[in-house]
Amino acid sequence: MPATCVVGLQWGDEAKGKIVDLLSDRHDFVVRYNGGANAGHTIVWGDRTFKLSLLPTGVLKPQVTSVIGNGLVVYPPRFLEEVDQLLAAGVPVGKNLVLSDHAHVIFLYHMEEERLAEADAEGKLGTTGRGIGPCYQDKVGRRFAIRIGELLNPTHLRDRLRHIVPVKNKLLAAFGSTTPFNADKLCVEYLGYAERMRSHIGDTVRILHDGLAAGKNLLFEAAQGSLLDVDHGTYPYVTSSSSLPSGIWTGSGVPARNVTRIIGVVKAYTTRVGRGPFPTELDDGPTGIGERIRKIGREFGTVTGRPRRVGWLDTVALRYTSALAGTDEITVMLLDVLSGLTELKICTAYELDGERITHFPSDAYQLERCQPVYETMPGWSEDITTARAKKDLPAAARRYVDRIRELVGLPVSHISVGPDRVQTITE
Ligand code: IMP
Repeated sequence: MPATCVVGLQWGDEAKGKIVDLLSDRHDFVVRYNGGANAGHTIVWGDRTFKLSLLPTGVLKPQVTSVIGNGLVVYPPRFLEEVDQLLAAGVPVGKNLVLSDHAHVIFLYHMEEERLAEADAEGKLGTTGRGIGPCYQDKVGRRFAIRIGELLNPTHLRDRLRHIVPVKNKLLAAFGSTTPFNADKLCVEYLGYAERMRSHIGDTVRILHDGLAAGKNLLFEAAQGSLLDVDHGTYPYVTSSSSLPSGIWTGSGVPARNVTRIIGVVKAYTTRVGRGPFPTELDDGPTGIGERIRKIGREFGTVTGRPRRVGWLDTVALRYTSALAGTDEITVMLLDVLSGLTELKICTAYELDGERITHFPSDAYQLERCQPVYETMPGWSEDITTARAKKDLPAAARRYVDRIRELVGLPVSHISVGPDRVQTITE
C-alpha cells in the first residue's frame, strides 16, 4: 500500500485526526496537501489532548516524517507557535517536520483583507479569518504571492515586499482600511520567522518521490471536508483549496496512481461551520436535539470556537462526496454522541421544487431549496463508549451503522465511540 488518504466526506470536523493518528503508526510519512491553519485536528491520548491547526497529525510521532506540502498556505508565526507548543509538551520536533519551499506565505495583510471582506454582510462567507482565501487568490494571481523558499533570501524578499505592499495598501484602503503596512518592517519580521523555520524548509516533492522509490508508505491527511472543496463543494460557501483527494497530486506532487486506499471519514450526524446551505440542519432551539448534539459532541470550532451548526446524517451528500473522493471504505465517527435519543433520522433523498431527487444538486442555490426526505430509525439509550467490538453495540446502534453502509454503498471499516484512540471498533 504505497499511499492512503484520509478525507472527510462532509463539511469538515469529521474527526479525521483520530483516524490519521491511528494509522500513522503504519506509515513513514504523513502529508498535508491543502489548506492552512483553518483546519483543526484534535488528538486525544489518554489524559493528553493535542490541538493542531497547521502541522500534520503525524508530528506527534517522531519516527514519522510529517510533510507540509506545496499546496498549503502558511502563516509563519502559527507554524512556530505549534512547534513551540509541542516542544513544551515534550514532543520532539526536528528533522521529522518538513515544510515545502513552494508553499505560500500568509502575511498580515491577507488577514486584514479577509477581515474587511467578511465585514460586508452580503459577501460574507463565514470564513475562519486566517487569511486563507486572500493568500490563495494571490497564489493563483501570481503577481503578489510569496513562497516559503523566498523568505530565505533577504534582498529578494525586501524587493518583493517593496513591490507588493504598496499595492496591497491601495487595495485595503479601497476596502476602508486606515492603517497601511510597511514593507521594510514586514520584511524584518518575516526574516526573523524564516531564521527559526529554516531547518524545516525543504524540497518536499523530491523527499516524497524518494520515499516512494524506497518503498515507504505515505498517509495523506486532507484538511476541511469534501463539501468545502473549491471545485466540487457548495460553492461559494467553500474553502479556497482542493480538499478532495484530487488535491493530492497538485498539493504534494505525488501522482494519483500511488494512492491506493481512500478512507472517507463520516460523522454519525452532520455539522457545518460558517454560512451556506445545509438541508438537514436541526434548527430546533435551545432545548432541541440540535443543541443536545452540539453540547454532547462538543461541536464548537477548534480554530475559532464558533458553535457548529448541527443536523441529521445526509446520505445524499455522502453518496456524492464518496464518489468524488473515490472512497474505498468509510469510518463512522462520534456514534456515542447519539446515545440517548429515542429516534434518529437519516436523510435519503431531497424534495426540490416539488420533485423527489436522490442526487446532490450541482449548485448551492438549488441546495438551499432542497427539503430533506427522512427515514426514521429507533435510537438506543445505552452508553456505548466502552464498546470495543461491533457485537458490544446495542442492536439499534448496529442497525444504524448498517443502514449507513447500505445507503452510502461502502463498507464501514472503523466505528468511533469516543475521542480516545482505544475507543475505536475495527470491523
Ligand atoms: P476559510 O477556509 O477560512 O476561507 O473558510 C471557508 C469556509 O470553510 C468557512 O465556512 C469555514 O467555516 C469553513 N472551514 C474552513 N476550515 C474548516 C475546517 O477545518 N472545518 C470546518 N470548516 C472549515
